[in-house]
Amino acid sequence: MVEAAAFWDKTAEKYAKAPIKDMAAYEATLARVRAHLTPETEALEIGCGTGTTALKLAGAAKYITASDISAEMIAIAQGKAASEGVLNVDFLKATLDDHPFTEEQFGAVMAFNLLHLIEDIEGALRRVHGLLKPGGLFISKTACLGDRMVLFRLLLPVMQAFGRAPYVRFFKTAELDGMIEAAGFELIETGYYPEKARARFVVARKR
Ligand SMILES: C[S@@+](CC[C@H](N)C(=O)[O-])C[C@H]1O[C@@H](n2cnc3c(N)ncnc32)[C@H](O)[C@@H]1O
Repeated sequence: MVEAAAFWDKTAEKYAKAPIKDMAAYEATLARVRAHLTPETEALEIGCGTGTTALKLAGAAKYITASDISAEMIAIAQGKAASEGVLNVDFLKATLDDHPFTEEQFGAVMAFNLLHLIEDIEGALRRVHGLLKPGGLFISKTACLGDRMVLFRLLLPVMQAFGRAPYVRFFKTAELDGMIEAAGFELIETGYYPEKARARFVVARKR
């Protein structure tokens, strides 16, 4: 399987051009995220991709540090920030294992369409917990592919062998919720946007 950074670097340009599949659901998600941010929130986004979401949320927070494992994704995001004139979003290449952040730096850590791409989700959630101030929020939307996707599961190893798919972890909604709680969070909001989707939206507070 191709290493994650290499896979996403290769994918970045195509990813940037792909239209958002369900704009109403995307806007509904953004609205729920904004409801948990304030003009004082110092936020971190992990796995920010080409930066669309961080730039859209910029007006709802004091600043957003938006990070990604892929230098190509970050380069595209930086170009968008410059052309949109957004000054309170910084993009940088970083992961939860290799970053310049300090413990308890952020009031919110956000991860959209990311957790299912990480092998050690439990470790990642512990690191997120450490980066949050007391009472800080973890806001996530991620695909829970554990109960269905039988054909995809069969095809995935073949696609991965040819460098056509990244690492994907399969888990059910209850397992995801359990992992978040076990890392020291209390779930304060969950949802689906759109309702029929398997992408679980979670807002969790650091205990
Ligand atoms: C499916 S894209 C989602 C991008 C963006 N959050 C969105 O919702 O459109 C996944 C992103 O996570 C990044 N990524 C994958 N594994 C990562 C890791 N371990 N740490 C940080 N970023 C990672 C990829 O480079 C990619 O930009």
